Amino acid sequence: MIARTALEEGPAEFGPPPSALTSPTAGRARGLRRAVAPIRAARGLPRWLLLAGVSLTLMFVVLAVFANWISPYGFNQYMAHGIRFPQQGGPSAAHWFGTTVDSEDVLSRVIYGARTSIEVVLLAVLFSVVVGVPLGLLSGYFGGWLDRVLVLLNDSIFAFPYLLLAIVIAFLLQGSVGGGVATAAIAITVVYIPQYFRVVRNTVLSVREEPYVEAGKALGAPPRTVIRRYVFANVVQSVPVVASLNAADAILTLAGLSFLGIGMDPSVAAEWGYDVSRGIADAQAGFWWTGLFPGLAIILLVMGLTLIGESLNDTFNPVLRRPGYRRAVLPSTVAAVSAAPAPLPTPPPGGNGGSDDDRRQLITVSDLRVWYGTTRGPVRAVDGVSFELVPGETLGLVGESGCGKTTLGRGLLGLLPEGASRDGQISFGGRNLFDASSAEMRELRGPALGLIFQEPMTRLDPLMRVSEQFAETLHTHEPDISEEEIRHRSLEALGSVGIPPTRFGNYPHEFSGGMRQRIMIALTLVLRPRCIVADEPTTALDVLVEAQILSLLSELKARSGAALLLITHNLGVVAEACDRVAVMYAGRIVEQGLVPEVFSRPQHPYTKALLASTISLSTESLHFIPGSPPDLADPPKGCRFHPRCPQAMEVCRAQLPAPVIIGAPGSSVECWLHNPRETVPAGGTARLSVTEIAVADEA
Ligand SMILES: Nc1ncnc2c1ncn2[C@@H]1O[C@H](COP(=O)(O)OP(=O)(O)OP(=O)(O)O)[C@@H](O)[C@H]1O
Ligand code: SF4
Ligand SMILES: [Mg+2]
Repeated sequence: MIARTALEEGPAEFGPPPSALTSPTAGRARGLRRAVAPIRAARGLPRWLLLAGVSLTLMFVVLAVFANWISPYGFNQYMAHGIRFPQQGGPSAAHWFGTTVDSEDVLSRVIYGARTSIEVVLLAVLFSVVVGVPLGLLSGYFGGWLDRVLVLLNDSIFAFPYLLLAIVIAFLLQGSVGGGVATAAIAITVVYIPQYFRVVRNTVLSVREEPYVEAGKALGAPPRTVIRRYVFANVVQSVPVVASLNAADAILTLAGLSFLGIGMDPSVAAEWGYDVSRGIADAQAGFWWTGLFPGLAIILLVMGLTLIGESLNDTFNPVLRRPGYRRAVLPSTVAAVSAAPAPLPTPPPGGNGGSDDDRRQLITVSDLRVWYGTTRGPVRAVDGVSFELVPGETLGLVGESGCGKTTLGRGLLGLLPEGASRDGQISFGGRNLFDASSAEMRELRGPALGLIFQEPMTRLDPLMRVSEQFAETLHTHEPDISEEEIRHRSLEALGSVGIPPTRFGNYPHEFSGGMRQRIMIALTLVLRPRCIVADEPTTALDVLVEAQILSLLSELKARSGAALLLITHNLGVVAEACDRVAVMYAGRIVEQGLVPEVFSRPQHPYTKALLASTISLSTESLHFIPGSPPDLADPPKGCRFHPRCPQAMEVCRAQLPAPVIIGAPGSSVECWLHNPRETVPAGGTARLSVTEIAVADEA
């Protein structure tokens, strides 16, 4: 309720009330406000540079659009009222910029020249952006043969001296299309397409590996959403800069083509480059005005466009942007809101805990194997892991660094990096996830299977406000959701992790690391997943917030029946927050069982050592496990722990022990000390199955 109340009474940064957000007109107005918001928010030098650039460029745009009304004469008019204008006449009241050798008015030619330049540049930039940007996006995102072919093609064009290429294309087109605006625009377009392609492709290559893009995938976003919202939004910020700089360059290229006599047909339109080329001979004869004014026009328009490009870079990037400071107001409600966490998101009718059938076993993992292909051979990060999770249960996954915990969590969601493969069986609510298509997995990720990453704070898109990240996530899975519902659920989830609603419209860089971590957790919780894999979700949080997050997660599972796989190094957290614990070593679960049983009577030597190395108030001397975990590209034969185990036997070095059921169902240990047959079975290769050993035990 706290979040809801604050929403209704929220300050101006919250935007219009929810009812206004649902009308199409309000939606358009909001879109427009959002588009110009960065420019309005810009301060200091970037703002002044932008204003100067826009003013200069606008001046030429106005001249181009209203040339018919502003220009005193036509661009090739040489007489009026039956009287011919003076030939090469100097600036005067009748002809402010003088006249040319053909008696044309220089001012009129400069004004009409603005129209030609703006038309050609607009078309050229539009064509090259429309072709170059999508090609760069697809090439960078999908890679493979498409990328190789496009890179080869664009590099071949890029390798050509650009003016020479434009000359060749203009020359070829002049014969078939003529010397008009289209010819000049196409000649310039071909030159610029590779520039957009290269800039966009290279940016995509780095952006697609960013944690926030991966986080988008984990929340179930399909490729087109990932490209459009996460990749494109980050890549596109370089496009206005390149476009305005290219536009400036295009003016010069057009002038160069006309200078060489293969740009615009002088009988079709006025062109500054053509006038400058003629003005050179005039200047040597003392008629300086015929070349000076078109030359100045080129310089001013190029300068205007360059200023826009440079300042847009600072303005559209919220990280570079210098914020506008406002008078500080300390509303008492903010403190009240942040003091206590809001209640958890309400589960939908019927709950998300699944039907009665899948309440029994939400996840069953059997013999899961995940390996990374490396130059050293396959790294077996998860090597034959089996466990179960029932709704409402928290399973803590512990083990030394590098033993495969994160890989196991990602393997469950099928979110593995390139070069990784998996095998085995994962049944989720009775459905085999290995049979699910990529599209089905995307639908499951988020609302059914949520992942809180190991470093969640780096997984927020730096260019999207928190409100936009919530809207994007919810829209992906619930396309018909209303704006009002989005605000309500987002603020509820944010409130539950202690983020005040006044921060809803902020960018990620405006939050502390811990706050970003909590926002990322809220982004996972807002979809109300049935199973959450939380990979060290409270690392880097202070103890109070850590306790808050853990109680939030346990409240969530109590209310919605969600299951939680909690990966952590903190055995205290396991004791406090988990029902069962699985101890992982070198890619295998070596012991699992109920937390009180495992913690009070650990069976595996590694579990014992791990518990002994925990520091508490009663610790008098530090215990540590000698040696380090093995290289998973070349793990030791037999029990993987044997090089470090004080109780290692001969059989331990020869053969991997099978898991043995001990105590309560779901409790097992993988150690020859607990195996009924302490010798290698006949044949030497067969491994004992869990059931076989259980039967042997009972016998
Ligand atoms: N992309 C990769 N390519 C090759 N090997 C990898 C890759 N990612 C992880 N590994 C290896 O897989 C093993 C398990 O890594 P993982 O990140 O799952 O461990 P972890 O238990 O989560 O460790 P930590 O506690 O430090 O987070 C490690 O040996 C690691 O070097
Ligand atoms: S199997 Fe052998 S080496 Fe491995 S933990 Fe048990 S006793 Fe130690
Ligand atoms: Mg990890």
